[in-house]
Amino acid sequence: MGNIQKELIQEMEDPKFREKYENACLIVRSKLEEVNYEISQQKGWDYMNDISYRVKTPQSCLKKMVKKGYPLNMESAKEHLNDIAGVRAVCYFLDDVYQLADILIQYESFTFIKMKDYIKKPKSSGYQSLHLILAVPVGEEQVKVEIQIRTQAMDFWSDIEHRFIYKTENQDLSEYEEEFIKVSKSLKKIDKQMLKIRRKMQESGIEFASPQVPDKGSY
Ligand code: GTP
Ligand code: MG
Repeated sequence: MGNIQKELIQEMEDPKFREKYENACLIVRSKLEEVNYEISQQKGWDYMNDISYRVKTPQSCLKKMVKKGYPLNMESAKEHLNDIAGVRAVCYFLDDVYQLADILIQYESFTFIKMKDYIKKPKSSGYQSLHLILAVPVGEEQVKVEIQIRTQAMDFWSDIEHRFIYKTENQDLSEYEEEFIKVSKSLKKIDKQMLKIRRKMQESGIEFASPQVPDKGSY
């Protein structure tokens, strides 16, 4: 590794730098938790069954910058990397994904930067998710956060594909990639079926009991 690369890694290891992105994630997470609570009181089910976050490691930031040919300095990292702060919201239903995205886009404290809809148009791998890039105020600064919103079915697929295909390098996986595309299509059907069932229940006037806030450690 060259000196420029080593210096950049060192700068990105600065706890102050990482803390800023961690705080941006925490701000988004608490907004998501608030939305989840309010929705569950209104609708009888909550949008999300899981909210997680991560701050991209300096090594992984560098790797991406090299791959994409971005200049190797801190300014460039802040400008080009949209996913140093990453939050993932896993929803129960397909329509909740879009409702949640709308709420976040309209929330006045966050600034909308862009949206990528890999549900309407899945990636060639079969990957499905709705990605929002928002700027979140952390102190005086606006910090970019990538929010991946997806259903449990999409999350199940992404998690396995990420481990076994996405991160695997220098091996011919084309046969398996085809299989993953097939599974992705089946899961899309299942998401639609689930939504149809819920809507049918709603139309017949069935009321859902608001989920209880669980005790810590219970499920
Ligand atoms: P990355 O360099 O992969 O971050 O891509 P990008 O910043 O150009 O944006 P893109 O929207 O393509 O991907 C952003 C993120 O979505 C990735 O970091 C992954 O978390 C996820 N992702 C994208 N494509 C795939 C895929 O084919 N499989 C899986 N499992 N995840 C994916
Ligand atoms: Mg990424």
